[in-house]
Amino acid sequence: MCGIFGCILKDGEAAKIIHAALHRLEYRGYDSVGEATIHEGKIFVKKDQGKIEEVHKIWNLDDLPGKIGIGHTRWATHGAPSQVNAHPHLDCKNEIAVVHNGIIENYAELKAELEVKGHVFRSKTDTEVIVHLIEENLQKGLSLVDAVHEAVLQLEGSYAIAVISVKEPDKIVCVRKESPLVIGVSEDAVYCASDIPAFLPLTNRAVVVNDGEMVILSHAGYEIRRVLDGSQIIREPEIIEWTAEMAEKQGYPHFMLKEIHEQPICLRNTLRLQEHYLELMTTFLDRAAEVYLVACGTSYHACLAASYMFSKLAFLATHPVIASEFIERYGKAVNIDSTILAVSQSGETADTLAAVDWARHRAATILGLTNVIGSTLTRISRVYICQQSGPEIGVAATKTFTSQLSVLAQLALRLAKKRGKVSHVEIEYLEEKLEKIPDIVEKVIETQKEKVKMLAKKYRDKQVFFFLGRGISTATAMEGRLKLMEIAYIPSIAYPAGESKHGPISLVQPGFPVVFICPPDETRKTVIGNIMEMKARGAEIIAVMEEGDEEIKQLADDYIEIVKGVPDVLTPIPYVVPLQLLAYYMAVERGCDPDKPRNLAKSVTVK
Ligand code: G6P
Repeated sequence: MCGIFGCILKDGEAAKIIHAALHRLEYRGYDSVGEATIHEGKIFVKKDQGKIEEVHKIWNLDDLPGKIGIGHTRWATHGAPSQVNAHPHLDCKNEIAVVHNGIIENYAELKAELEVKGHVFRSKTDTEVIVHLIEENLQKGLSLVDAVHEAVLQLEGSYAIAVISVKEPDKIVCVRKESPLVIGVSEDAVYCASDIPAFLPLTNRAVVVNDGEMVILSHAGYEIRRVLDGSQIIREPEIIEWTAEMAEKQGYPHFMLKEIHEQPICLRNTLRLQEHYLELMTTFLDRAAEVYLVACGTSYHACLAASYMFSKLAFLATHPVIASEFIERYGKAVNIDSTILAVSQSGETADTLAAVDWARHRAATILGLTNVIGSTLTRISRVYICQQSGPEIGVAATKTFTSQLSVLAQLALRLAKKRGKVSHVEIEYLEEKLEKIPDIVEKVIETQKEKVKMLAKKYRDKQVFFFLGRGISTATAMEGRLKLMEIAYIPSIAYPAGESKHGPISLVQPGFPVVFICPPDETRKTVIGNIMEMKARGAEIIAVMEEGDEEIKQLADDYIEIVKGVPDVLTPIPYVVPLQLLAYYMAVERGCDPDKPRNLAKSVTVK
């Protein structure tokens, strides 16, 4: 996730306006920042790695000349945060500048072709191919609009871009495919941005750009065209009633709810990872004599789920370990043949880094899965993968958890393929299902949100909750429990359902709420047995189950239905979503702030 912005003013200097707008987009990325303006036939650029104010202190972002410009806040996905990798990116002759939010999947092929044609690349980003493609098209004599149009036809992936060129210095050309883009219109300016808050203090008249649309901004206003056939679309601006604070959360009352809703987009991004890194990591996992999956908090639950994925698909036994326990438990056993897959959203969690450091000194291979390129974990990993979720502001991890699961599932699938343990037909089936997971999550949110809200009202005064599941659903249960405990402050217990009769069942009395995660996998029958045991003791059963599972419906007091046909190894992704929502609405019902739970921090950098 990154933030893009552009503006054309009737009067005044664009740079200050861009600078202020980038601040309002900082929640979309903050590892680098940059601006480009056009003045008297020349492009002026300032960009660097660092937070906006750090960069501003060094370079003064406000003194670029000109009435037209673009800007960018970056959350690195391809290429570490650095000055050359910061946007805007320029063509060989410094006549075109581009800012981009998204991922260009086929950038390596395009880059190779462009290099043969003599283009010189300065950065390691996927974005830079866009500006060279446009340059190539302009050289053929196309207009800026046509050159951008031709370029995007060659791009695979997701993008919202804004382009300026000295050849037509009074225009900004924008295109959207799967990454957000909105236009703002006022009496004396026109704006483009990733999000409404960027221009909300300047105008409340906004036009939402849809996928496959191109927008040409000029002093005359804006013109929308379909990329497919170039036909014009007439769309009037809407009046936005949000306050600035509401706009930052896109109208949601809390970041956590916004981030729960962002999961389909983040999951789509995880399906666009670079093959090369997935393949490299799979090769290391394949070679390892033993694999430790090391993490804390929610990331540990992703590791727990992954241990089932690796075992079921690739027949690989792994050790999921809570990072703070790693050295005591396995420290002496780690050696040159060990591989550590460390999973950390922030890439900075002290306990995870301490475990990794220990293993590094014993010559183990370190692999990293993180959301932050440039974090310590990326620097000390032999190979790392960025999970592409964008910044998460709510302290409780939601979108970053499901993204981690999607990446780990892809690794397990690749390893299965490599090891020939599962038939091609099954692998293809699972790959197809993984592609559908973002839509399934979207549907779960859409259809179950109101139901979960109602359940939160019903159960808000319960003093304690049980979360039970078997097999991979144990991880789902543990994550559901963590969410409820950390943001609604309800003491909760999660157990593998089979183990519940060895102790925890003694707590159960009439009215005791038990959440069962019961997808229709091979554990279902036994889970039904566990539901009966709890019911017999008067527990109130809330089942998270596949839609239309009549048997469980009959047994449960309340149920949440998940779309049919999710393979067992992928169930944690959609099945955890109602549990995130349950925790969220319970917190709201109980008057707790879900974004800022007491005593907790987003990134824990002490041991
Ligand atoms: C803290 C956060 C959790 C997070 C955990 C691990 O406890 O509050 O949300 O899951 O750290 O963080 P990491 O960045 O390593 O995934």
